[in-house]
Amino acid sequence: MSLIKWVELPNLGDHRGSLMVAESAKNVPFEVKRIYYILDAKPDVPRGFHAHKSLIQLAFCLKGSCKMLMDNGVEKQEVYINQPNKGLIIPPLVWHEMHDFSEDCVMLVLASDCYDESDYIRDYDDFVKAL
Ligand code: TYD
Repeated sequence: MSLIKWVELPNLGDHRGSLMVAESAKNVPFEVKRIYYILDAKPDVPRGFHAHKSLIQLAFCLKGSCKMLMDNGVEKQEVYINQPNKGLIIPPLVWHEMHDFSEDCVMLVLASDCYDESDYIRDYDDFVKAL
């Protein structure tokens, strides 16, 4: 299976502006239990550097962009997240790093579960062992 899976949201916008809808079962392939967002990230300060044991996430840049490094232990790929209607699925057991945030970046993340630090793998060697 490809490491990079996008979810494209329909744009229901009209002359008044854009309207995108993310809805569990319709276009989000999991039940959303949590959302969080990142803003004021620094272009030269990367984030992430972890994998999750079971959490599934869907990340959008509502504004601006960032570069996401995805690594499943076998293959690494870098992609830009830079369209408000195009989200990247971050599956479990994928090491991910966010680099090169644009100054205006507003990242929205939908997550399949509540925050649980024990679901994180924050050490790369532990990640490789978990595969
Ligand atoms: P973390 O996931 O490590 O951030 P990033 O991957 O973007 O670098 O989270 C940073 C801190 O915030 C960490 O101490 C955990 C905490 N946190 C929560 O308490 N709840 C949450 O939903 C998230 C995403 C993070």
